[in-house]
Amino acid sequence: MRRRLIAANWKLNGTGAFAAEYAAELVPALEGLDPAVEVAVMPPAILLPALRESLNESSGRRVMVGVQDVSAWEAGAYTGEVAASMVADQHGSFAIIGHSERRQYWSESDGRINAKVLQALSAGLDPILCVGETEAEREAGDTEAVVARQIREALADVPESDWRHVCVAYEPVWAIGTGKSATAEQAQAVHAHIRGVLGELDPAATETPVIYGGSVKPETAGELFAQPDIDGGLIGGASLNAADFAAICRAG
Ligand code: G3H
Repeated sequence: MRRRLIAANWKLNGTGAFAAEYAAELVPALEGLDPAVEVAVMPPAILLPALRESLNESSGRRVMVGVQDVSAWEAGAYTGEVAASMVADQHGSFAIIGHSERRQYWSESDGRINAKVLQALSAGLDPILCVGETEAEREAGDTEAVVARQIREALADVPESDWRHVCVAYEPVWAIGTGKSATAEQAQAVHAHIRGVLGELDPAATETPVIYGGSVKPETAGELFAQPDIDGGLIGGASLNAADFAAICRAG
């Protein structure tokens, strides 16, 4: 039985006050949710302790927290970075790694992303590795080759015993923040391909959850999450509204 995960990515949004209101609204809205569905919220790193505290005050221990990136280094003279071990120290459980916005605006390479994945795992975090093709790559028929390369390079040298902590998020770049989600059929086809690539990498990776991200809304989540190889979602814009995010969690 693969893990099922619904994760919120606040991107560059939020304040301490927003975190408190969000936790107070989300926790009751998740009451009665299938306990097999894992729920995680990734605010900007500086807000992680405030969100964790607000969730605890709302008895929301069921909701895990994490960050949107970690450093490729463990410690040292790397101004502005946040180490994976610091996230774990602040009770974070997840780290999104290799998001297409970081690949695009910070020129993150697959090699650098691989270093971040290994840092996250060694600190005890569960990395959510993002992969996905651009519109031009899809039109050129390169979707499968692009995601296969991203997965093989970013997940190189994952220790066999750590695969149960890895999660992959398929996020077609053309679907992020555009309101233009992949159809359930398009997403399912790529997820099935990703599952094959993971299996070739390591037999231990066949149980790795593969979640979908890209303009998921409460109205579209049910059909996407019903696909056999879609194990949940990574939600951007819609996750900023606690009621919408809770509705998406219920579809998981
Ligand atoms: O990490 C989340 C994805 O980038 C999806 O964002 O739901 O706003 O399209 P979106």
